[in-house]
Amino acid sequence: MTKRSENPSTKALAARRRRIEKGERQEAAVRGRGSSTSLQGMLELPLLEAIAAHGGRARPKDLYAELAETLNLDPGARDQTRECADQSYRVFDQQVRWARQTAVAKGTITGERGFWEITDVARAKLARIERGKTVLIYSMDDGLAFLGHAEEVAGLIDPGSLSLIMTSPPYPVVNRAYGKFGLPEWLSWMSDLTGLWKDLIADDGTIAVNLMDVHVPGSPMISTYVERYLIDAVDRHGLHLAGRMPWHSPTKLANLEWAVKRRVALKNTVEHVILLSKSPNPSWDTRRLPSEPYAERSASQKASDARRSAARRQVVRPGGYQMDEGAFHTDGEGRIPGNLLIAGGVGGGGLYAKRCRAAGISPHPARFPEALPRRVIQLATAPGQIVYDPMAGSNTTAKVALELGRRFISSEPVVDYALSSSFRFDDRPDFRMHVDPDGLAA
Ligand SMILES: C[S@@+](CC[C@H](N)C(=O)[O-])C[C@H]1O[C@@H](n2cnc3c(N)ncnc32)[C@H](O)[C@@H]1O
Repeated sequence: MTKRSENPSTKALAARRRRIEKGERQEAAVRGRGSSTSLQGMLELPLLEAIAAHGGRARPKDLYAELAETLNLDPGARDQTRECADQSYRVFDQQVRWARQTAVAKGTITGERGFWEITDVARAKLARIERGKTVLIYSMDDGLAFLGHAEEVAGLIDPGSLSLIMTSPPYPVVNRAYGKFGLPEWLSWMSDLTGLWKDLIADDGTIAVNLMDVHVPGSPMISTYVERYLIDAVDRHGLHLAGRMPWHSPTKLANLEWAVKRRVALKNTVEHVILLSKSPNPSWDTRRLPSEPYAERSASQKASDARRSAARRQVVRPGGYQMDEGAFHTDGEGRIPGNLLIAGGVGGGGLYAKRCRAAGISPHPARFPEALPRRVIQLATAPGQIVYDPMAGSNTTAKVALELGRRFISSEPVVDYALSSSFRFDDRPDFRMHVDPDGLAA
């Protein structure tokens, strides 16, 4: 064995310094230089919810993939590994472990190794308002936000008073053994709610429901629950299918099991917005949508357009119609709006998410982009009319409704989500908080 000298050489010291710097760089990279705070902030409530769904106690290895899915994490990011002290580890799993350590420090998860268990503090954080209770949590001159389950809040709203119900329900978690919602329960729950909502909308009102495809448990097949929901709404409740608005999210992530690992399914980038109406004549007006410019046409396309329109003026169509030249818009109103909505998912930025992080609260993990309620509200309502989101989450719908000069009602049963949604509005002079947030959250 070689005897080490008491004083390390300059070379050895430099090598040690390089190793330390490398380690620091790696740590900084793993932490994402600031973004780790936001990822950990985003992880906090979903982590507690995931453990709660396992009955309050779970093994870490059972949680990583579930959390990655809940957060819609890019599979590349999920699989990203780093080397540290000659060991390789998954960056995301490490972030989850850090989130758990933070939770231990906050007293929401117990410090036991091997199993992660939520405490009573966490249970209070995840608290939903009791069934049967409703609380007006905040209001403005043109909006009311309730803490409550959709089933009960419906009873507070005047029948026929709403022009639009716009919502994104929790989707049926069919692929988890401990599933909160099996498909049959989800379908009967949503069917009953849809019946209640039908009574709340005006005769020319609309119900817009955003639904996401899910896989049949243990299979790459797609569940037909969206179609079942729709057919039930028509058959049982006599609603009309006024339109569909496929929502293409270019940033949507592929299903981990079937599209990424096994490569037997396509990446599904489209969610559904089903538009139901009480009568065949809902009060829709596409002129309320922002005008879309015509596509730029080349010189040769313009020449061919001119030839075609000259021919149209002379020709009687095969169906016997003499086409009226005025039927073709040339007055610059823009393109006839299409039903396809293209909008990326919601990132971690924005005032609401910043305020949540500053308050040490996880932003809602399943918000829809503002573009979605914006298009539906413009299409289906006029300024001053009332839009209700019964499953409001962070209350994106209400924010957009107010921006568009509509009024809103919202309801959400999870205390923390309902409270933090106030961050979207509490700078308004007419904002009124009706509860003591500390009293509610405790
Ligand atoms: C997909 S999220 C809605 C997110 C929302 N669109 C946003 O942008 O923030 C669905 C919400 O429904 C809520 N929810 C679950 N059960 C409910 C019930 N019985 N009544 C009302 N809301 C419920 C969940 O707590 C969750 O916040």
